[in-house]
Amino acid sequence: MSVTVVETIAELRAALAGRTVALVPTMGALHAGHLALVERAGQLAETVVVSIFVNPLQFGPNEDLDTYPRTLETDVEKLDAAGVEFVFAPSVDVMYPHGPSETRVTAGTVGTLFEGRSRPGHFDGMLTVVTKLLGIVRPAVVLFGQKDAQQVFLVQRMVADLDVATRVSVVETVREDDGLALSSRNQFLDEREKRAALALSTALEAAESSGDRGIDAVLAAAQSVLMGESLVRLDYLSVVNPTTFLPVDDDYRGKARVLIAARVGETRLIDNALIHLGG
Ligand code: PAF
Repeated sequence: MSVTVVETIAELRAALAGRTVALVPTMGALHAGHLALVERAGQLAETVVVSIFVNPLQFGPNEDLDTYPRTLETDVEKLDAAGVEFVFAPSVDVMYPHGPSETRVTAGTVGTLFEGRSRPGHFDGMLTVVTKLLGIVRPAVVLFGQKDAQQVFLVQRMVADLDVATRVSVVETVREDDGLALSSRNQFLDEREKRAALALSTALEAAESSGDRGIDAVLAAAQSVLMGESLVRLDYLSVVNPTTFLPVDDDYRGKARVLIAARVGETRLIDNALIHLGG
């Protein structure tokens, strides 16, 4: 059985009628991180659908919408080899036939923090397209990668807040052997930048091993790694409560998520890790 690429909503709905579906939403430029989502999806439902759509709604005016890697042919080959049954690859006109959607799903306060501060409107655009994809595919389960921790949090909250009848399954970040989190944007890094980018995962490891000494020690440990790498320009480093995604207080104890965003050369990268704050 080989993969079927579907470009219209009507065709996809007809093909999926009566099936239990796991959806993996992507913007293409697929790497092993996406394939880990696909593999998990295959364990969760009889039919796997991977959507490939570079969603203009979630890019700001000065962002990389035009240069975002578009590699449909090789993406489809990878998904075929992975045994995926359907790829949904709509055009912008299919998704937004009347121009950019006037109706938006808003991400609220958390959507204005961290990634949302650097990328105003990004999460509203993301939640809006995810809501549309859930309405089109009607999957039993939708899968996301933990690397985009804020996206995962906001989708989980949206699904709960709006009583969406889809389960959200989260798959751990896939890393290179040296620790670099896989990302479609890694392909923009040259060799020197790739080495420098390791500062993100090394900083997370340093944060994790300082957890018992409290929040100040965690931030200092991560910061000292990041500051030691001249090609890295830190955007934010923060420690949040996983249940609220808001920065933790000094006296917070328990599970916490460390978030890092930084530019390495011209490429903006994010990474995160769950740690235990004690002390
Ligand atoms: O994570 C992504 O690739 C995108 O934000 C998503 C979830 C496919 C929505 O466009």
